[in-house]
Amino acid sequence: MSRVVQDGVTFVELREEHLDDVMAIELEAYPEPWTAGLFRDEIRNGCSFFYVLLKDSEVVGYGGFWLVLDEAHITSVTVRDGYRGRGLGKRLVAFLLRLAGELGARTATLEVRASNIRAQGLYLGLGFSVVGVRAGYYPKSGEDAIVMLKELGGSRGEGEPQDGERSFPCEEM
Ligand SMILES: CC(C)(COP(=O)(O)OP(=O)(O)OC[C@H]1O[C@@H](n2cnc3c(N)ncnc32)[C@H](O)[C@@H]1OP(=O)(O)O)[C@@H](O)C(=O)NCCC(=O)NCCS
Repeated sequence: MSRVVQDGVTFVELREEHLDDVMAIELEAYPEPWTAGLFRDEIRNGCSFFYVLLKDSEVVGYGGFWLVLDEAHITSVTVRDGYRGRGLGKRLVAFLLRLAGELGARTATLEVRASNIRAQGLYLGLGFSVVGVRAGYYPKSGEDAIVMLKELGGSRGEGEPQDGERSFPCEEM
C-alpha cells in the first residue's frame, strides 16, 4: 500500500524526495532528533512501514512501525508544529494501527517520553495501555520511556504466510 487518500489527507510511503521536509519537522519536534541517515534506513528496511502525511501536497507529519514477527513496533509519530491539535496525530496513528492489523500484527508497542503527556494522551485514547518503564532510555537527557501496548488481534505467525505478509526475518538493510 504505497498511497492512501482519506478525507482530505494522503498517506504516502516515505521516499527520498520527502527527506528535506521530514528533517525540518524532526529538528523542530525532538530534543534528540533522528538524522537523515536514519530516515533513509527506514526507506531501505524491509520490515519498516513508514509513511508521510500530506495535506494539500505539503508534508505535515510522518510515522511508521517495524513489523517484527507478530509485533508492530511504532518507531515515530510526528505532526508539524502549527498543525497539531487538529486530530492529525490521531488519524496518523489510527492509519498505522489499521495497516499493522491488516498485515497480521497481534500487538502494537511503542516508547514515549515520561514527560510527553500529549502523546501519551493520544495513545491512551486509541486504546494503548502502559505496560512498563525503561529507565534512562533517552541517552542525552536520561529521561525514562513509558512502554505502551495495544492488542490488535491479528494472526501473523500462525500457519502459512498470508498475502501481503513479508517473510521472516526482516529483509536485510
Ligand atoms: C504527539 C503529536 C503527534 C500529537 O499530534 P496532534 O495532531 O497534535 O494530536 P491530535 O490533535 O490528533 O490529538 C490526539 C489526542 O492527543 C491528546 N492531546 C492532544 N493535545 C493534547 C494536550 N495539549 N495535552 C494532552 N493531550 C493532548 C488528546 O488525547 C487528543 O485526543 P482528543 O482530541 O480526542 O482529546 C504531536 O503533538 C507531535 O508531533 N509532537 C511532537 C513529536 C512527539 O512528541 N511525538 C510523539 C513521540 S512518542
